Amino acid sequence: MQDGHRKHRRRRLGNVSRRDFFKTVGVAATVASGSARVSAQLGPDAIGPGEVPITLTINGQRHQLRIEPRVTLLDAMRTRLDITGQKRVCDRGACGACTVIVDGRTYYSCSMLAIEAQGRNIRTVDGLAKGNALHPVQQAFCDHDGLMCGFCTPGFVMATVALLEKNPNPTPEQAKRALDGNLCRCGTNIGVLKAALSAKGVTRG
Ligand code: FES
Ligand code: FES
Repeated sequence: MQDGHRKHRRRRLGNVSRRDFFKTVGVAATVASGSARVSAQLGPDAIGPGEVPITLTINGQRHQLRIEPRVTLLDAMRTRLDITGQKRVCDRGACGACTVIVDGRTYYSCSMLAIEAQGRNIRTVDGLAKGNALHPVQQAFCDHDGLMCGFCTPGFVMATVALLEKNPNPTPEQAKRALDGNLCRCGTNIGVLKAALSAKGVTRG
């Protein structure tokens, strides 16, 4: 251990040593979290913190699983259901790589609890292709070099699909606005925009 750290540990707070102070705080925190747990258990609508059964409908298929209520939709899909099309990049609602379509609207799946997504129609990039035939939006991304490393691509594809299903003939400005919640660190934005505009008219759900 470095000397500076030792000195810091010896510092006292009035007549109370740091160690005693933290012990007291620790006890108080434990008591507080204990009462929160008790009231959570007593509350009529309280669920968790342990695992609870949930059902998710993803790409038209129903999946039953048990998860803690704190698990995000992205984690439930990737780590419990092996539906790995949407990527975890920032994990904090900033990049859009995890974008899914839920009941026709785009959401960051890293920022939505799986439990909230029950009873809703969740779509990911995994459900777009029909056999070996790519969805027209996926094909447009290939045709217009809309990807490099590909980490952002599933999110961009889903955002584009949601846009074109709502507005089959967007202007470039409308397309830019619809995709502005997604980031590409490789700099493929021009290809992405070209792909989105070339796939105009796509309405397949
Ligand atoms: S991983 Fe969800 S927004 Fe970046
Ligand atoms: S293609 Fe690499 S981050 Fe977009």
